Amino acid sequence: MVHPLGLTDLHATSQSQRWFARAKQVLAGGISSSARSSTTGPLPYPLYIARGNKSHVWDVDGHEFIDYLLSYGSAILGHADSGLVSAVQEQLDRGTMFGTCNTVEVELAEQICAMVPGAELVRYANSGSEAISGAIRAARGFTGRNRIIKFEGHYHGWIDVLAVSNRPTSTEAGPLDHPHNSPHSRGIPEGVSGDVIIAPWNHKDIIEQLLKEHGDESAAIILEPIVANNACIMPEDGLLPWLREQCDKRGILLIYDEIVTGFRLARGGAAQYFGVTPDLTIFSKAIGGGFPISAFAGRRAIMEQVGANVVKHGGTYNGNPLCAAAALYTLRKINEPGTLENIYSHGRSCMEAIRRAATDAGVVCVVQGVGSMFQVIFNEDGRPLKHYRDLLKVNTQRYAAFRHSLLMQGVHVNSSGSACWFVSAAHRADDLEFTTQAIGQAMKSVR
Ligand SMILES: Cc1ncc(COP(=O)(O)O)c(C=O)c1O
Repeated sequence: MVHPLGLTDLHATSQSQRWFARAKQVLAGGISSSARSSTTGPLPYPLYIARGNKSHVWDVDGHEFIDYLLSYGSAILGHADSGLVSAVQEQLDRGTMFGTCNTVEVELAEQICAMVPGAELVRYANSGSEAISGAIRAARGFTGRNRIIKFEGHYHGWIDVLAVSNRPTSTEAGPLDHPHNSPHSRGIPEGVSGDVIIAPWNHKDIIEQLLKEHGDESAAIILEPIVANNACIMPEDGLLPWLREQCDKRGILLIYDEIVTGFRLARGGAAQYFGVTPDLTIFSKAIGGGFPISAFAGRRAIMEQVGANVVKHGGTYNGNPLCAAAALYTLRKINEPGTLENIYSHGRSCMEAIRRAATDAGVVCVVQGVGSMFQVIFNEDGRPLKHYRDLLKVNTQRYAAFRHSLLMQGVHVNSSGSACWFVSAAHRADDLEFTTQAIGQAMKSVR
């Protein structure tokens, strides 16, 4: 089983420390993605993971963890799933890429269209950000309008087109009824980010006002149906159907960023789970089971613009048979009865374990999300969060202490209290038993 790490002794992870020192010589900041600098929690260096199998990962010092980070939800079947490895190996033996059309990309698109409400035509890309850019261009091309309405705190990738107000400070965020448009990084020209209108999630009255002001010039409303990047804030009852109506009334496209929720929330993603179909949907993460593939899909009339090359979309690696084979295997597995049900059952038990441990320890918190993705927030009143700005008020030290204790006991979860825990099809009853005990212990460190 899992061996407690004892991270209070920093020498215990000395190989990770050494690798980070080497990395800093040759990788900018020692890392490959800005998101990774924060995965370490209390350590001044990241943990280097050497291998994974099913629901467990091992670091370069040989410590074993039950993994609830799961590559931000990508490894939905668990690590090194034997069926997935075989499917990819078979394709490897036939060749990885030819820069031509291939049969696997067709079978995969058929699978996506069969599973996802509203997916009539598909295009592939390689990362979530890239597929978002494709979908936004398609929306602008189709409607002939430039503005995009985006919700504060929702994350739609690092590329200029939507990297705005991802995580603004209270000052940057501006007034709630007219949130500022705050570029996420230096180097994003105002000419690009300026076309994004920022709205507050779950505030219908303010959204309606913004729609009155900008609706006629807006191509799309884009959203994370469950805000994975804001500790799994849920849409309030009626929000999604209401947004659907507003879009229809005003000739605006509704776009779901299902990069996290897709094929995880339900076989047909959030569109199926919430029963509200968008015009365009973006997928990545779970679709590839850990391989880099993404897609955007949607209504035939919109996607035909892409098909006719009026809205241009390209990419050397798009639909390559290696990643397509991984995705096809993964989606067929997800589509099998029992796969998502098992994920949910494990996740719900974890959520319950956190709630129980909090009650026992007299700690105030709220556990929000659904069984396959969720987060615990140590706020003041234990009420579900409504909007990104509620997260700004939360004392992050308490989550850091909780996570640190879990890590020391051999449970690996996201270090950021604003992201979420993910469950895979490979998590088992003994993982749950171990995790439940670790949660009980970790809750005692939250003060
Ligand atoms: C909801 C959401 N959208 C977009 C992205 C960007 O995807 P990628 O990192 O693959 O570019 C992410 C990544 O975490 C995400 O969570």
